[in-house]
Amino acid sequence: MFKKITSIYGDGIGPEVVKQAMKVLDTIAEVYNHEFVYERALLGAEAIDATGAALPTETVASALNSDAVLLGAVGHPRFDNDPNATVRPEQGLLGIRKALQLYANVRPVQTVPSLHHLSPIKIKAKTGVDFIIYRELTGGIYFGDKFTNEDGTAATDTCHYQQHEIERIARLAFEAAMQRHKKLTLVDKANVLETSRLWRKTIQQIAVRYPEVTVEYLFVDNAAMQLILNPGQFDVILTENMFGDIISDEASVLTGSLGLLPSASIGNSTALFEPVHGSYPQAAGKDIANPIGAILSAAMMLDYFGLQHEATVVRNAVQWTLENGFVTKDIDPVNFYFTSTVGDLICDYIHGKAIEVVN
Ligand code: NAD
Ligand code: IPM
Ligand code: MN
Repeated sequence: MFKKITSIYGDGIGPEVVKQAMKVLDTIAEVYNHEFVYERALLGAEAIDATGAALPTETVASALNSDAVLLGAVGHPRFDNDPNATVRPEQGLLGIRKALQLYANVRPVQTVPSLHHLSPIKIKAKTGVDFIIYRELTGGIYFGDKFTNEDGTAATDTCHYQQHEIERIARLAFEAAMQRHKKLTLVDKANVLETSRLWRKTIQQIAVRYPEVTVEYLFVDNAAMQLILNPGQFDVILTENMFGDIISDEASVLTGSLGLLPSASIGNSTALFEPVHGSYPQAAGKDIANPIGAILSAAMMLDYFGLQHEATVVRNAVQWTLENGFVTKDIDPVNFYFTSTVGDLICDYIHGKAIEVVN
């Protein structure tokens, strides 16, 4: 199979983790006879430095002309610490999501038994945790009208949703529930927010078409607690943009590290694959970041290409490193391996060489 992939390093640890994901994709291509060709494109602070814009037009053009986009992360402290900055790396990320109409951000959260001890939350050994968050990605307060008054003493962000924006991601979430344990939890704040009431009404209407799916409604404050108290209750979580952002970082704690979580952003054109974490600037250039979130994002890309077997091989390789202690510093601060070594070991496993390393 031939695929063209737009590869975006971004900032901080972005380049380090994307390189590992590309290495894994290249190994898959070699072993299974595919051809993956990359086109590098710029986003975030790296793009601002090179072009002045957080989302150069070439980046959108490349993405639209590719079969998928692989992205690291964007963001830099020099912007985070400057509230007056008018050009910001994150605008690039929001811009590409909007340009590609990536309305559904799919974030699977799965615990691995060998890492259960890392979670500050007790994970039930038998069942573990296995749910998937469907986060709306191109609407809500992120994209509503925003402004600051003239003397800078008041600011407004508007949360806005149209019913069709809710319907399109809800359909994907219900379909996912049908393939899983047939339970869908809508996380909202319908006791306060008009937009949340629109979400609830819309989901109630769609639920009629999926009689086999058990639908539950949770206010986001309660959901934040339930994620810690009883995470095993969740199957598919559907939620709006900002709630999804917040609860997915919270959910990562169950797995042992934010560095483990992958995501796929799906829309009407090219899909984009990126880890859930950010640019983790403190670790930039140190070869210590966990590359698994990026590598599992590449596995989601392989699924999207219809290469389910190859995706499973990547997931098995990841599982093997986690079970055998070939992990980065966030997982084991004492006996840890470097980012690039974990990437190499995953590639070795895919090549069938890794078993010799252990024996
Ligand atoms: P972050 O996700 O970069 O890091 C938070 C913490 O999570 C880190 O201190 C670290 O302990 C851990 N962590 C994250 N990724 C890890 C990895 N791969 N391996 C090991 N540990 C990891 O969030 P932040 O510190 O709030 O934000 C830093 C910058 O990243 C900001 O500029 C922010 O805007 C940006 N950001 C970008 C994205 C994105 O591009 N999708 C997502 C979140 C944050
Ligand atoms: C994420 C990030 C982004 C978001 C930021 C960097 C704009 O936190 O991808 O989860 O809030 O969507
Ligand atoms: Mn986030």
